[in-house]
Amino acid sequence: MKVLIIGSEGMLGHDLVDTLSINNEVSSTTIDTLDITDITKTIQTVNEINPDVLVHAAAYTNVDGSESNSDLAYKVNALGTRNVAVACQEAGCAMVYICTDYVFDGKKGSSYYEYDQTNPLSVYGKTKLAGELYIRDTLNKFYITRTSWLYGFHGPNFVTTMLNLAKTNDNISIVNDQIGSPTYTVDLANAITQLINKPVYGIYHITNSEHCSWYEFAKQIFDNAGVNIDLNPVTTEEFSRPATRPKYSVLENYNWKMEGFPKMRSYKQALRDYMKLL
Ligand SMILES: NC(=O)c1ccc[n+]([C@@H]2O[C@H](COP(=O)([O-])OP(=O)(O)OC[C@H]3O[C@@H](n4cnc5c(N)ncnc54)[C@H](OP(=O)(O)O)[C@@H]3O)[C@@H](O)[C@H]2O)c1
Repeated sequence: MKVLIIGSEGMLGHDLVDTLSINNEVSSTTIDTLDITDITKTIQTVNEINPDVLVHAAAYTNVDGSESNSDLAYKVNALGTRNVAVACQEAGCAMVYICTDYVFDGKKGSSYYEYDQTNPLSVYGKTKLAGELYIRDTLNKFYITRTSWLYGFHGPNFVTTMLNLAKTNDNISIVNDQIGSPTYTVDLANAITQLINKPVYGIYHITNSEHCSWYEFAKQIFDNAGVNIDLNPVTTEEFSRPATRPKYSVLENYNWKMEGFPKMRSYKQALRDYMKLL
């Protein structure tokens, strides 16, 4: 297949290029070659490349920054995604969008299915959900993949942040009452590669399996690294941030399972494999 990846210099975008290039003819754009807030250029670029599938991995991903830069977050995540969807419609290609567990409010208390009610708490979550809605209003052939707590080789993430903090701190306070599923970008890129080979359009929750709090995740990171450090579990209220995050945003990979795809491996195994290569 001919695949176009938008946002190819992002953390996930890099791995998408590597993985999708194995069996497909891949083209890619970065923010320097295509700013998705420019609808004319977006339509023109997608038309010229004329892909079978477009994977949209570009976003304004600063969750806390979105609270004070809400216009920019909306422009990129909602309107930029609308522009990409319109371009896909004109080119007649399928679209993959990467969305987030932050579309949920976390109050359900158990894992979220694809059909559960969304209710984002943050500007970032609202703008990402608005992007989803534009796609659903514009296209028939789309895969919306919601994922969570990404880490990988090509961008700052929780794992590298923890390891860096440990170099200059004897103890670190970590939130222990937000629960989610850390997900390795390489595993997500592999899953998306499998997904686009079938015309099973719709919404997919795709995360590594099992879940933990940020505090538990940090403990595993330091165990794997053999680093001895005092970790102090704190509540969300004690660790104030501009954006409100859901307390429990574990995503049930239900459609993924129903379509017969193999279960995503445990985040613990994925984390170990990732850290071996750091
Ligand atoms: N990271 C997570 O934990 C997480 C969790 C759930 C879902 N997601 C979603 O997964 C996707 C990939 O995330 P990621 O962590 O790989 O993000 P990332 O590393 O921040 O990459 C996003 C890319 O989009 C580019 N970009 C920003 N504005 C753009 C614009 N107007 N036009 C074109 N490109 C633009 C960025 O360029 P610059 O760097 O130059 O700004 C960056 O290269 C995003 O849709 C994100 O919302 C992420």
